[in-house]
Amino acid sequence: MKIFLDTANLESIKKFNDMGLLDGITTNPSLMSKEGGNPKNAMEEITKIIQGDVSLEVVSTEYSGMMDEGKRLREYGDNVVVKVPMTSDGLKACKSFSSQGIPVNVTLIFSANQALLAAKSGAKYVSPFIGRLDDIGQDGMNLIKEIKEIFSNYDFKTQILVASVRHPLHVIDSAKIGADVVTLPPGVLDKMLQHPLTKIGLDNFLADWEKLKQKNPDTKI
Ligand code: E4P
Repeated sequence: MKIFLDTANLESIKKFNDMGLLDGITTNPSLMSKEGGNPKNAMEEITKIIQGDVSLEVVSTEYSGMMDEGKRLREYGDNVVVKVPMTSDGLKACKSFSSQGIPVNVTLIFSANQALLAAKSGAKYVSPFIGRLDDIGQDGMNLIKEIKEIFSNYDFKTQILVASVRHPLHVIDSAKIGADVVTLPPGVLDKMLQHPLTKIGLDNFLADWEKLKQKNPDTKI
């Protein structure tokens, strides 16, 4: 399963990229706005740092505007995936971009039918938002199971990009189902790194080594 980081924060992107964990990045207008700086600089930097797919989202709601914006977004790099909303204009743009060999991520997917239609329009990725479904009392992970089953039945090449991930259990469940990608807020990836027994174990190793060093002051590793 590929791991993308769901952020426009350059510090977090560099941090996790240096650990070799990132296969790509997803952004959206809210994440850009959260960083506060000039989005142009962020998009330039992110597409330089990351070799894998970087989803940059259009803000136009009409087909021709989406096409113009998508083409401009692609100027940031060949690794740019044009992110369009799950609307009829979004699907029309998805079809046009895909026919030209430009990869598309269809975002704001909340049902299996929406995922099916986006796949038929040629999307490289569909982004089901599981956390936002959980938030309204629906089962986000069940949507991933449904999409996985449908895509497997018909051998769709469209990848399931699990979005709106809230906690590490969402990641384990996505991996068990066989989702292609999870996109993670930096905080969730940080939590995945940690386990209390790792910290306790390391503290004990270091304390024991200190004791040994007192008796053998010249010993170095
Ligand atoms: C996906 O590409 C979106 O950027 C993101 O996962 C939305 O998540 P949220 O529900 O936490 O805003």
